[in-house]
Amino acid sequence: MIRLEGVTRRYQSRAGERVALDSVDLHVERGQIFGVVGRSGAGKSTLIRTINRLETPDGGKVFVGDQEITALNPAQLRTARRKIGMIFQHFNLLASKTIEDNVAFPLRLEGRPAAEVKTRTTELLARLGLAEHAKKYPHQLSGGQKQRVGIARALACGPDVLLCDEATSALDPETTEDILGLLEQLNRELGLTIVMITHQMEVVRRVCDRVAVLKDGRIVEQGDTVDVFLRPQHPVTQAMLAESDDGFDDASVPANARVARLVFQGTSTYEPELSRVARTVGVDYSILSGRIARIRGVPCGQLVVAFTDGDADAALKQLAERGVGVETVGGR
Ligand SMILES: Nc1ncnc2c1ncn2[C@@H]1O[C@H](COP(=O)(O)OP(=O)(O)O)[C@@H](O)[C@H]1O
Ligand SMILES: [Mg+2]
Repeated sequence: MIRLEGVTRRYQSRAGERVALDSVDLHVERGQIFGVVGRSGAGKSTLIRTINRLETPDGGKVFVGDQEITALNPAQLRTARRKIGMIFQHFNLLASKTIEDNVAFPLRLEGRPAAEVKTRTTELLARLGLAEHAKKYPHQLSGGQKQRVGIARALACGPDVLLCDEATSALDPETTEDILGLLEQLNRELGLTIVMITHQMEVVRRVCDRVAVLKDGRIVEQGDTVDVFLRPQHPVTQAMLAESDDGFDDASVPANARVARLVFQGTSTYEPELSRVARTVGVDYSILSGRIARIRGVPCGQLVVAFTDGDADAALKQLAERGVGVETVGGR
């Protein structure tokens, strides 16, 4: 659905040239929810804005559907943009227009007949639970409601793709959850392809099928969300995950222990594999940290365990045979 090939964007400033995107390749399948994460300044906004050409790359190509966005003339670009909706961190609503008029805005811009505008707007407001707010102004709504208006407006022209630039970053955790649930529902019901730019790992964990990690304008890692979360390869990914995770304190590791990270996926998450193996092999262990989370709905568990007595190698071998991911992280 979306393809970036060698996309590069440079900015000139008095301090010299700054490469915001450095030859980025990216491929988003139709119907996917694709996350792009990175620290502030990594180039996330620049990247997402090349998809609807709010930002024109200095090099490389961008395709959406079967169209090369980077090759379109202004009139063609206007038409193509109808199929690409976008929502923003601060909603970007028109303060002097009612909710209804905000949602109707892109349809009027296109010169659609008044009756059609009315029908479509009413339908969108109902779908997004905003019907009762139609005549209000943006300042009368909560953050979550404003983002719903942003989504309704983005959907007005019936897009295939929805671009979300930090769409939940200004919202509290409960409202974030609500908006993510809504995006997931739109993805499912409308087959909408969604690109989510975020610095919040939790957002990726909750809704994204795949994720790319951006650092200094380059993609340093990408893969299925489950794989990236359970086996992060790049230091930036590891650090960002560690911040949203509970690490363990080195000082709490017993002397002479073998420390291993165990990863349980799917149904094995709820099986007592560790205690079974410990009994069979005759090892003692203590748990240094652990958590069970759902990654895009799939249960996944991670335990950091110190084997303090007995044959740790044999125990780890048996765990691996039972489908548990095993990685030694320290100790003897
Ligand atoms: N219009 C601009 N002019 C000059 N530099 C810019 C401009 N937009 C972004 N940059 C620079 O490009 C880099 C990436 O910015 P951005 O894409 O906004 O990152 P992110 O969204 O990941 O925080 C930053 O170093 C930023 O300062
Ligand atoms: Mg940004």
